[in-house]
Amino acid sequence: MSARLVVAVDGPAAAGKGTLARALAAALDLPYLDTGLLYRAVGRRALDAGLPPSGDASGQARALQPADLLRRDLRTPEVDRAASLVASQPSVRAALLAFQRGFGASHGAVLDGRDIGTVVFPDAPVKLFVTASLRARAERRWRQLHDATGLDPAAQSAAIDAVQAELQARDAADAARQAAPLRAAADAVWIDSDRLDAGAVLREALRIVEARIAEARAAETA
Ligand code: DC
Repeated sequence: MSARLVVAVDGPAAAGKGTLARALAAALDLPYLDTGLLYRAVGRRALDAGLPPSGDASGQARALQPADLLRRDLRTPEVDRAASLVASQPSVRAALLAFQRGFGASHGAVLDGRDIGTVVFPDAPVKLFVTASLRARAERRWRQLHDATGLDPAAQSAAIDAVQAELQARDAADAARQAAPLRAAADAVWIDSDRLDAGAVLREALRIVEARIAEARAAETA
């Protein structure tokens, strides 16, 4: 089964989905796709083309090239906002769907995003929903973006507050949109990464994957 196993990893921003999904893919010897990068690359193209914030970006989505995903400027706050905006457009989502499905269909894959378990692979045998408290996520994202050296605790706390406000706004928009909103699939298993380090999250996820594979095998032979 693991030859074509699809593992869906969804959750809000900076919950540790990417770290987990990449490690899971390596452990299971499966390809990995960061689907947020697709929306980021479309957002980047929309910015470069000078589109207004809510302008139709489906042309940018259809024209996406592999090289767009390799750009080094896809994780800036400006692209965070642009990605969330283009991700709310049904035509953009539709343009990216076939690629995501094709990626997982032939050899299996681990994919992380917001709608993998609900829309892209609703029949995935393993669905994980990774969460953490807003503060923990803001601290994590801030550490990814900034070097803490030399900052006094008050300045650091204020900077984390600003990142937290951005994250909260983006999650609210991602969860409130009509098209494929951020939401856990009914059959997803939740992992709260607040008090777990990356190794513990991976062990928990592998335990869930193994349990699901055993259940599927038992159902096949029943
Ligand atoms: O995971 P990320 O922060 O790189 O995602 C960037 C944006 O793309 C985020 O605002 C949500 C959106 N996204 C989405 O709508 N669906 C996905 N499958 C992945 C990301």
